[in-house]
Amino acid sequence: MQELKPEFFARIDENDDELFYRTPRIVKHIDENACLAIETFYDKILPTGKTILDLMSSAFSHFPTRMLRERVIGLGMNSNEMATNPMLTSYVVHNLNHDPILPFDNNNFGAIVITVSIQYLTQPIEVFQEAHRVLETSGSLIVVFSNRMFPTKAVSIWRRIPTGQQHQQLIESYFNIARNYENIRCIDITTKCEGYTDPVYVVTGQKG
Ligand SMILES: C[S@@+](CC[C@H](N)C(=O)[O-])C[C@H]1O[C@@H](n2cnc3c(N)ncnc32)[C@H](O)[C@@H]1O
Repeated sequence: MQELKPEFFARIDENDDELFYRTPRIVKHIDENACLAIETFYDKILPTGKTILDLMSSAFSHFPTRMLRERVIGLGMNSNEMATNPMLTSYVVHNLNHDPILPFDNNNFGAIVITVSIQYLTQPIEVFQEAHRVLETSGSLIVVFSNRMFPTKAVSIWRRIPTGQQHQQLIESYFNIARNYENIRCIDITTKCEGYTDPVYVVTGQKG
């Protein structure tokens, strides 16, 4: 992956994100097969007994029901969406494109997830560095994505490259440039079935 140029993070709609996310969308942004693939993956990977951060959160975290017993904090743009999310024990409204500094103490979370939202970050390196700061040692930042997007709000580089391996490479470069992540892994967890399903890809990195 080439150097990340500032123009890669331009968007068609450069208005404040508060305007776009003002109206709640209580919807699943991917199809049922993709939702199930994510839930199954999170069931395998999310630790128990640790606080989890659902970054860029909304009405659904795609977590298995066992996570209802865990402490899960949401950070997103719309309080009505997060208020309906049964997985969240608390949540905060915070615009990461205005302020990538996470409003949390160091070494606070056993895992952080970003689900089908990475394409909206205009300052991903700063956010990944912040995620590293607030993760406990050995905790993972888990980025899950598919091929759907709000095109006017997605950054230009995301729209220009095809879904799949090249998006994984872009996210891998975010981890590498942010530094100090280990065991960076790219996985394809798309459901293997007859007929169409939204693809699902993952990139994870661990705090060393
Ligand atoms: C497609 S939705 C995905 C929501 C959820 N993670 C899911 O899996 O259904 C994109 C989410 O990104 C969040 N988001 C977009 N721009 C953001 C920003 N600048 N700062 C924080 N969150 C943002 C919004 O709150 C929105 O809920």
